[in-house]
Amino acid sequence: MHHFEYRQDELYCEEVPVRLIADSVGTPFYLYSHATLSRHFQVFDQALAQIPHLVCYAVKACSNIAILRLFASLGSGADIVSGGELFRALQAGIPPERIVYSGVGKTDAELRYALRSGIRLFNVESLQELDRLEAVAASLDKMAPVAFRINPDIDPRTHPYISTGLAKNKFGIPVGDAPAAYRHAASLPHLRVRGISCHIGSQLTEVAPFVAALERVKALARELKADGIPLDTIDLGGGLGITYDLEQPPLPADYAAALAREWRDLDCTLLVEPGRVIVGNAAILVSRVLYTKQTALKSFVVVDAGMNDLARPSLYNAFHAVQPVVRQPRGEQVADLVGPICETGDFLARDRVMPAFAAGDLVAVMSAGAYGFSMASNYNSRPRPPEVLVRGEEIFVIRRRETYASLIAGEAIPAFLEGPAC
Ligand code: LLP
Repeated sequence: MHHFEYRQDELYCEEVPVRLIADSVGTPFYLYSHATLSRHFQVFDQALAQIPHLVCYAVKACSNIAILRLFASLGSGADIVSGGELFRALQAGIPPERIVYSGVGKTDAELRYALRSGIRLFNVESLQELDRLEAVAASLDKMAPVAFRINPDIDPRTHPYISTGLAKNKFGIPVGDAPAAYRHAASLPHLRVRGISCHIGSQLTEVAPFVAALERVKALARELKADGIPLDTIDLGGGLGITYDLEQPPLPADYAAALAREWRDLDCTLLVEPGRVIVGNAAILVSRVLYTKQTALKSFVVVDAGMNDLARPSLYNAFHAVQPVVRQPRGEQVADLVGPICETGDFLARDRVMPAFAAGDLVAVMSAGAYGFSMASNYNSRPRPPEVLVRGEEIFVIRRRETYASLIAGEAIPAFLEGPAC
């Protein structure tokens, strides 16, 4: 459920017509609904009420500090995968004891920053990383709380680019190697072994793979306990899918009920790292039609947002619904919604039945909250769009549009090239 709805023929975000925001901030822009963000977080969090748990929102899905602050105020922690995400989470006021750190390529500097900050858990993804963490913790005279991210070799049945828990993926350590890895970790003086983590993929539309992963994690936890390595934390990652088109993913309540059945005999805190399910349907990308173009073969609607603003269609062939911001009685067409980028792969929708848009119309690309702005780039030297948050009747610009000057901030012409250009 979200708060982007038509009143008569106008698309509203909560109490505000989307058209009014376009008139004031220009296009393209990302538009978030506060009520939707809050509701999605709370529904997810409350669904897990029967299990001792902490929701660590996956910062990578949407990293704006205003949104992180909102989740912090609702009790969220953060799942981070870089020093930059740690910085954002701390700036937003997420307490370090609610922050968990995943990722296969943590640098010494990042490990140091996280240790100094006092985060809750390092989800370690290799033995080499474990040894770096021990060395960095020793140099700071600190204890590092660790879990191994295990790779349970389970097929999440989602897009191959976002499947992470198969044996052939780069993530985690093979579950068979885990007991020896844990014994090694337990022997290191600056590490405190706390738990097991796993994250098998994103946009999952079934509960079964989560349950299968949890069963493997439980079996490992039992084995480690028998080995004298008791654990207090199980981190099951994120991954619950949303409806972009016709998908029917499990509700948070179904997901939580399935985990609760498995949890009965476990004396551990559950950490979860949802991203998409919280923010995915809480934002849209609003764009304006520049031109329409008919060829003998196809119709194109050229808008002022492209693959640099929303990469998902180009990168994963992902589906995002396309809706008019103001409905017009013009009928429908089959067309490609394309951006201004000089690549054939620059499309937001392909061969799609959509309204017969005309130049000047506003278009809403739906379900753009997760991996939307956070994956935007400056490709083709396009300033990244603003992010706007609506709360009831109020409008807040939570990130302003980049300028041409911001495109070259940080670039420098070396002395040997100084002087007249030609
Ligand atoms: N935890 C870890 C360790 C992760 O790697 C991810 C996502 C999450 C949690 C959050 O997963 P979620 O609940 O959002 O499914 N850019 C892709 C998605 C990449 C997901 C990467 N990892 C997309 O646009 O579909």
